Amino acid sequence: MKISIVTGASSGLGREFVYLLDKHENLDEIWVIARRENRLKELQEQSNSKIRVLAYDLTEKESFAKLSELLKEEKPEVAFLINAAGFGKIGSYKDISLEDSEKMIDLNCRAAVAVTQIVIPYMPKKSHILEICSTSAFQPFQFLDIYAATKAFLYRYSRALRVELFPRHISVTAVCPYWIRDTEFISTAKRTHNSSYIRNFPFSSKAKTIAVWAMSDAKLGLPVSTPGPVCILHRISAKFIPHELMMGIWALLRRI
Ligand SMILES: NC(=O)c1ccc[n+]([C@@H]2O[C@H](COP(=O)([O-])OP(=O)(O)OC[C@H]3O[C@@H](n4cnc5c(N)ncnc54)[C@H](OP(=O)(O)O)[C@@H]3O)[C@@H](O)[C@H]2O)c1
Repeated sequence: MKISIVTGASSGLGREFVYLLDKHENLDEIWVIARRENRLKELQEQSNSKIRVLAYDLTEKESFAKLSELLKEEKPEVAFLINAAGFGKIGSYKDISLEDSEKMIDLNCRAAVAVTQIVIPYMPKKSHILEICSTSAFQPFQFLDIYAATKAFLYRYSRALRVELFPRHISVTAVCPYWIRDTEFISTAKRTHNSSYIRNFPFSSKAKTIAVWAMSDAKLGLPVSTPGPVCILHRISAKFIPHELMMGIWALLRRI
């Protein structure tokens, strides 16, 4: 059985990836993971492919055991693993609860690694892993400090894992989008004691554009996908401009 697995499939970017896989890949099943079961079930009605709903909370360890068991039972071949589950919070260190801070690390880092490690043994030659990172992986960001740090972790992990998986001909792509406006990310990120540090989200893009761009980069086997001109510019700037200066530029940009 040939399948793909998408985490964070109940909304935003993850859901767009499911639409793309359904339309363009010849799969027996797409396994979709998120907490909101009703949203995942909607995908069953919208897709031609068979959708297997896995309503897991990826901040809970039992979810990894359940996924592991299911893979052992079904022994599928996983063509694409797309780790899109993730969230961020805007605010200073005192505006974000400890619970949210810990959950960000649990979901964006721990869960992405756990799902990847569990799925790799089921991935054949020419399969693809997409780890959804962010341009915030390229430098430290005040008032997005923990989120940016989690994405830097995932970015580094992806790039090193890619090299380790060369002999198995599995590609790993760190997908690094800038703001995306038509997902639930920004509204979730703003729900803190004070999110006024970032007022607007200029040059933001759309989830469908990002998913199409990232998928084509993954199929080319690129280590990093920067899906859009702002992402490309940010990646290049963060390589050459000292990070203290980049944080100074961010101090101006976030007030626009
Ligand atoms: N939007 C942006 O501006 C932006 C920019 C750069 C990178 N990204 C990254 O892109 C990825 C997708 O975000 P998005 O923009 O599509 O936001 P989104 O619409 O909020 O999607 C986030 C997804 O993660 C799932 N999720 C959240 N907590 C979970 C948990 N504990 N267990 C399992 N699933 C969970 C959500 O489903 P449930 O709530 O149903 O669990 C949802 O499907 C994230 O990794 C994000 O960091 C977003």
